[in-house]
Amino acid sequence: MLTLLHIVGARPNFMKLAPVFLAGQARPDIHQVVVHTGQHYDRNMSDRFFEDLGVPMPDENLGVGSGTHAEQTANIMLRFEPVLDRHTPDWVVVYGDVNSTIACALVAAKKNIRVAHVEAGLRSRDRTMPEEINRLLTDQIADLLLTPSRDADQNLLAEGIAAEKIVFVGNVMVDTLLRQLDTARALRMPEQLGVAGKPYAFVTLHRPSNVDNEGTLRELLGGLEDLAGRMPVLFAMHPRTRERIGRFGLGELGRSLQLLAPLGYLETVSLAERATLVVTDSGGLQEETTVLGVPCLTVRPNTERPVTVTEGTNRLVQSNRVALSEAVDEVLSGLAIGTQPQRRPELWDGRAGVRVIEALHAVSLPLVSRTIAR
Ligand code: UD1
Repeated sequence: MLTLLHIVGARPNFMKLAPVFLAGQARPDIHQVVVHTGQHYDRNMSDRFFEDLGVPMPDENLGVGSGTHAEQTANIMLRFEPVLDRHTPDWVVVYGDVNSTIACALVAAKKNIRVAHVEAGLRSRDRTMPEEINRLLTDQIADLLLTPSRDADQNLLAEGIAAEKIVFVGNVMVDTLLRQLDTARALRMPEQLGVAGKPYAFVTLHRPSNVDNEGTLRELLGGLEDLAGRMPVLFAMHPRTRERIGRFGLGELGRSLQLLAPLGYLETVSLAERATLVVTDSGGLQEETTVLGVPCLTVRPNTERPVTVTEGTNRLVQSNRVALSEAVDEVLSGLAIGTQPQRRPELWDGRAGVRVIEALHAVSLPLVSRTIAR
């Protein structure tokens, strides 16, 4: 019997856990425990995702809540250690790039418990992003690096990670998307929000680099106001963004936008699939729009998911009003994204979760293999 202890904490983790957990559940030789750190805790940021995705509620919830990066990371580590001691798993499986990912990977690695990282190897090469620090450090201490795309393998090899630790499994987010697409469609969110059959834009923004600076947020809201002159703009707002708009007194600028609370997973997919375009700074939506074939404007200077640009429908846009409006013009006139051939990236096929479980089962790395191969 192989015991896997899965770690989730923040919204994007839940969609990555689901296919791996469900693939593990199908095997009688695997025992699974799910630990939620509590990094996200509002119903719309957490519990709804378990309900939407058909994953049982976590076995443990560390209840850490919000804080500075140091507070949050340290609190997760302190609360996770005794939980890890109680369960003594064969593997701790961490997902993505949030603070819960590095915090639990570090605790496990120091206790010589093997760590598997799902969505390893992605790099934006932008160390001002907290997620980039989390990715780099998690990959350095993980024993098994499960990658979503070939560029991730190359990034890891270039950082001196031994090739035998790296397994290209494909994109687990896409498993969830393909599995849930019909259920999401049945919600008929565009009908519910009065935009069915019309062009509309779907927007999410939450990165500190976009919403924590008053000037940048003002520019982006201005760009969205311009867009709202052309089509309805549905903006599903993260609590951080809502708080910043209030703090900076920018509420007036959002007047023409249709503001929505943070949405569940199925609602998000239902709206994204039929959108004319998506404007976002989310990692997951860059991938989901690529699979759905919906043009995506990612308001960031870089992306750790380059295949969504080279093979998909994604395009990077500077965080200012003029750049956003120009990019919207190009999408709408079909000059940019619409003319690009779109392909589904390799192994974004709905079977990545099964491959994760197979890799965990097959690989039995001795701890000495943590020594970095040169
Ligand atoms: C975190 C992740 C980010 C991910 C995002 C998805 C890190 C470093 N960042 O960012 O990579 O893209 O989640 O949403 O791990 N809040 C609530 N309710 C909640 C959770 C948060 O109101 O359930 C508010 C709090 O004011 C909190 C703020 O949102 O301070 C930010 O939450 P936090 O978890 O620190 O970071 P995110 O911006 O959500």
